[in-house]
Amino acid sequence: MQGAAQLNPLSPWHLARRFLSVAFAADLRADEQMWVAHHLGPGSLRLFWLQPVPDRRHSHDVARWVADRLPERTDLIVAALLHDVGKRHSALGAIGRTWATLLRWVRLPESARFSRYTRHGPIGAEELAAMGHSGIVVAFAAHHHETRPDGVDPADWMVLAEADHRR
Ligand SMILES: [Fe+2]
Ligand SMILES: [Fe+2]
Repeated sequence: MQGAAQLNPLSPWHLARRFLSVAFAADLRADEQMWVAHHLGPGSLRLFWLQPVPDRRHSHDVARWVADRLPERTDLIVAALLHDVGKRHSALGAIGRTWATLLRWVRLPESARFSRYTRHGPIGAEELAAMGHSGIVVAFAAHHHETRPDGVDPADWMVLAEADHRR
C-alpha cells in the first residue's frame, strides 16, 4: 500500500489528473447508481445526488476502490460515498478548483467561493452530523484533506486516504 508521505495532493501530476477528471467526468451508469443506492439511506442518497457530476463520479469511484478491498466495511464505503458532499456549495468547475487549491497552498487571500471550496470538508461534515451520521463518516468528511484525527483507526484512515488520492 502506498505510504502517507507519497499522497501529495499538490504534486503537478495529481493536480493535472484531478483537473482532467473533473473536466471530463462521466455520470454514473444505471448499475453504478443501483450500487450507490444499495449503500445509502434515503436522506444520504438525496445528498449524494445533489453533488455535481464530477463529485458523484469521484465519490463513487473512491467507494468502489474501498469496497474492492474491504467489501464488508460498509461504514468505510459510506464514508467514501459522502466525504465530498460539502464541495457542491462552492459551485466551482475544474479551473476554479485548481486555483483554489493553489491559492490555499501559497496562502493568498481567497474569495468566499474559494474559501467554501477549501473548507468543503468541515462544511460537509456538519451536514452529515446533522443527518445523524457519526464516527468515520463524519471524521473522514471533516479531515480528509488533513492528517488523521485522534480516535480513528490508522488502517481505516489509510485505505480511505489512498482511495481518495487514487480516484
Ligand atoms: Fe475533498
Ligand atoms: Fe475526495
